[in-house]
Amino acid sequence: MLTIHDLDVFYGPIQALHGVSLQVNQGEAVAVLGANGAGKSTLIKAIMGLVRPKSGAVLLDGKPIQELPPWEHTARGLALVPEGGRVFRDLSVEQNLLLGGYLRDEQANREQMAWVYQLFPVLAERRRQQAKTLSGGEQQMLAIGRALMARPRLLLIDEVSMGLMPILVQKVFQVLGELRRQEVSILLVEQNAAAALDVVDRAYVLENGRMVLEGPADVLRQEPKVQAAYLGG
Ligand SMILES: Nc1ncnc2c1ncn2[C@@H]1O[C@H](COP(=O)(O)OP(=O)(O)OP(=O)(O)O)[C@@H](O)[C@H]1O
Ligand SMILES: [Mg+2]
Repeated sequence: MLTIHDLDVFYGPIQALHGVSLQVNQGEAVAVLGANGAGKSTLIKAIMGLVRPKSGAVLLDGKPIQELPPWEHTARGLALVPEGGRVFRDLSVEQNLLLGGYLRDEQANREQMAWVYQLFPVLAERRRQQAKTLSGGEQQMLAIGRALMARPRLLLIDEVSMGLMPILVQKVFQVLGELRRQEVSILLVEQNAAAALDVVDRAYVLENGRMVLEGPADVLRQEPKVQAAYLGG
């Protein structure tokens, strides 16, 4: 479904990604693990069209999308949960959700919103509240809900577990499991390898802008390098 081939991304003179390649198959959940500054957010932004690679390709269903603006990515079935959630703070929960569905009609949005409220009942309780009055964890759920309003085929998630207490991390990853049953493909970048490896099929490890490891989640969990760097083993 998504193929990234030999991607180079620069910020001015700084090269953030070096020849990065990756694949997400239809129905798959894939994680990219990496430390601070490894290039995880850059990779997600390059997939979503928010930064332009210097070379390489981002292919969706075999077609290059790296030159397209971000909204064209949304129209093609990609949705992003950005780092830190980035909800619209002064808008209500419901208004935030509707913005996620801006390409879809009212009927579709009503149905999708009912589903989001079912996944995150706390959002339904707070539907009229301004987003800034939500707790950090609730804002994170709202960011996921907003992305889901677009009914994505592929959900891109940048550090969903950041700043969440373990019980909420569990809750959020539980929802990701539910999404998989609904045939939504997932690409998540994470520092929380333990939680990520529990929910994905495959994972990659990104170090200083380079992919250094790749494999099934079960295999990577046993890798000494992953254990030492991410699992405290
Ligand atoms: N707008 C920018 N201008 C210049 N350098 C940048 C910019 N954004 C990121 N970088 C640099 O690119 C590298 C990768 O950053 P990126 O944000 O992709 O890392 P990350 O893996 O998401 O880190 P974190 O876990 O801290 O979120 C870093 O060295 C960072 O300083
Ligand atoms: Mg980041």
